Amino acid sequence: MSTPSLLILPGDGIGPEVMTEVRKVIDWFGAKRDLAFDVSEDLVGGAAYDKHGVPLHDDTMARAQEVDAVLLGAVGGPKYDELDFSVKPERGLLRLRKEMDLFANLRPAQCFDALADFSSLKKDVVAGLDIMIVRELTSGVYFGEPRGIFEEGNERVGINTQRYTESEIERAARAAFELAMRRNKKVCSMEKANVMESGILWREVATRVGKDYPEVELSHMYADNGAMQLVRAPKQFDVILTDNLFGDILSDCAAMLTGSLGMLPSASLGAPMANGRPKALYEPVHGSAPDIAGQGKANPIACILSFAMALRYSFDQGDEATRLENAIEAVLASGARTADLMGPEGGTPLSTAEMGDKVIEALDQSL
Ligand code: IPM
Ligand code: MG
Repeated sequence: MSTPSLLILPGDGIGPEVMTEVRKVIDWFGAKRDLAFDVSEDLVGGAAYDKHGVPLHDDTMARAQEVDAVLLGAVGGPKYDELDFSVKPERGLLRLRKEMDLFANLRPAQCFDALADFSSLKKDVVAGLDIMIVRELTSGVYFGEPRGIFEEGNERVGINTQRYTESEIERAARAAFELAMRRNKKVCSMEKANVMESGILWREVATRVGKDYPEVELSHMYADNGAMQLVRAPKQFDVILTDNLFGDILSDCAAMLTGSLGMLPSASLGAPMANGRPKALYEPVHGSAPDIAGQGKANPIACILSFAMALRYSFDQGDEATRLENAIEAVLASGARTADLMGPEGGTPLSTAEMGDKVIEALDQSL
């Protein structure tokens, strides 16, 4: 088989710094595991706007459609706050998601043992936590029409539309059930069927798809209760299936359970391409963190773990993904910490590059 291709889009803020560390890891797999990638790099977000006047150039979009996987850092920053909505950095990311049709967004929230003390919740509530949020990513209120700000009488009205077709719900639900089959065989579907018709349909379709997975225990929860249960007793969940907007919010909430947003990767998957691989984009859940950008303080682990997800979901290298995850676990167990993971006892945090080097050392030791 030909060398798999990876398009790297570091983006804005801390994106480029954390991506530099991911490049070290990619090179390590090429040199030590005979897993070479054909890597190219391009601009997205504010970085693309600065050069091209748009947050994603058409050529970059075309390239993203061709490659085996895209790895993205982060987009956005205060410098772009005043830009017109249509060219804001976030529009670049949303265009990638929409045009690649990446309908299933996988956001794992795992609590590493070494970090259980960092959660704002009690240690026993989060220790050993391992949940997977499947967020529908290409529809719902993020994209529904009509949308806009319109004149109505003598004032303006802002409109967005929550809209879901059965097939959109069905394919997201299927992704959730397939994952549950490989995990603890539980899916909790979250919507607001008590107030939204789209929620009623969501519940109906999730139930119907569930019939194809008799081994999986399906439950339903209103999304507001889901938010409460996530902070009350998060270990009751295995896979959470939810829509685009609820998923945005619930996944930030779940992320914080684990102690640091700097630890969490994500995968956005679409339909299989001709070579059998799904269309895919991998990115850390954290944003561009403009407050610490360019200072070498950022934690590169979320982005490195996003590459581990790429190994697992795009390149069928589950064992190598586990190797990388174990290396990170070992680094954390050894006490290595970036600034975001410093406890009240203090100490000297590692820089972004030093953390990357630790991961490489641990990978070497895994051989
Ligand atoms: C996320 C982010 C994005 C979203 C932004 C950057 C458009 O918050 O990936 O969760 O709202 O989906
Ligand atoms: Mg978000």
